[in-house]
Amino acid sequence: MKEILLKTATTESVIRCGEGVFAEYAPRLADEQLFIVTDSNVFAYYRYRLWETFGEFVPIYIIPAGERSKNIRYLTAILKEMLKSGMKRNCTVVAFGGGVVGDIAGLAASLYMRGVKLVQVPTTLLAQVDSSVGGKTAIDFEGVKNAIGAFYQPREVIADPAFFETLTEREVRCGWGEIIKTSALNGEIYDLLVKNTDKFADKDFLSGIIAMCIEHKARVVEADEKETTGLRKTLNLGHTTGHALELYYRKKSHGEYVLIGMYYELYIAMKKGVCDKNYAASLIGLIKKIVNKIPSYPDIAEACKLAAYDKKNSDSRISVIVPAQIGRTEEIKLGMDEYVSLVKECSETLRRAYGI
Ligand code: GLY
Repeated sequence: MKEILLKTATTESVIRCGEGVFAEYAPRLADEQLFIVTDSNVFAYYRYRLWETFGEFVPIYIIPAGERSKNIRYLTAILKEMLKSGMKRNCTVVAFGGGVVGDIAGLAASLYMRGVKLVQVPTTLLAQVDSSVGGKTAIDFEGVKNAIGAFYQPREVIADPAFFETLTEREVRCGWGEIIKTSALNGEIYDLLVKNTDKFADKDFLSGIIAMCIEHKARVVEADEKETTGLRKTLNLGHTTGHALELYYRKKSHGEYVLIGMYYELYIAMKKGVCDKNYAASLIGLIKKIVNKIPSYPDIAEACKLAAYDKKNSDSRISVIVPAQIGRTEEIKLGMDEYVSLVKECSETLRRAYGI
C-alpha cells in the first residue's frame, strides 16, 4: 500500500493505493452520513460489496453507465436525491466507479450545501491513474465536454487494483493510454516502462506504476492546481489531437485516442525539431504496445479542426504539448492550417507505410 498526500492552498487529500486498500480503509467511512454515487455496470458487479462495507440501507444513486450520463439531468437528480435522503452539511459523497461517476459525483459534492466531503473510489485503471486525483469535476453541457465544472479536491482517494478484475480489455487499454502519456512527462516512469515491456500484464508491476502516476500527478496539481502556470497543461499531452479524433470518430476508448494523438503529435514534434528521432521511436514503441496499428484517417483534416475547441488554446493558435526529451515536454503553438497540414502529412505517411 502506498499513501500519497496532495496538499493545495486550501485542502489536503490522502490518496491510498494498492491491492486491498478498499477492504482496509473504506469500512470506517460507514460511521459517517454517506451518499454513494455509482453507475449501473459497477453496481451490478459490486452491490454486495457496497452493502457489506457501508450497510444495506446506505443511500445509493445509480446513473446509467456511459459518458452520456454526465449531464445536467443526472446532476440535478443526484442533488435531489441527496436532499430527499436528508443529507446534512457534514455528509460524505462517495464516488464509486470510473471517470464519469467521479466527475459527476464530484461536482454534486462541490455544489451540495456549498460543498461536502468527497471520497473518490476509482474502480477503473483510467480513474485510478488520472481522473480521481486532482479535483477536476464536471458535466458535459450543450454538446461541450466538461463545459460545467469545478476544481474540488477529494478528501480521500481509495485506489484499489482489485476492482480491475471486472474491467474489459478496452477499459484496461484506456487506462494504459494515460500511463504511457505520463511516461512522456516523467523520466522514472519512462525508464521503468521501457525496461519492462514484458511486464505490462503483471499485477504487481501495474500497482507500482499506478502509484508512480498518482505521485506524479499529485506533485503537478500541488504546483498548479487550477492550471494557471501551465504545468498542469502538460497532463494533456496527446490530448489536443486525441480529443479531436475522439470527438469526431467516437470508436475507441479515450486512452487509445490519447495514444493515437500522441503518435501524431510526435510526428509534429520531430518535424519542428523539438523531439529527437530515437526518443520518439522509443515512445512510439510504448504506444504500439497498446494500440498496435495507428490508424491513418482519410478525413483527418476535418476531424482535426475540432482541436480549435481545445481548452489549452489561449489564442487562435492550436496548442500542442509534445515530448522533447526524457522527462521534458514543450508546448508548440501552430496556426490551424499548419497544424492540419502536419497531421495530414503524418496520416499519409502512415497510409503509405501500411498500404491502406
Ligand atoms: N486529466 C488532466 C488533469 O487532471 O489536469
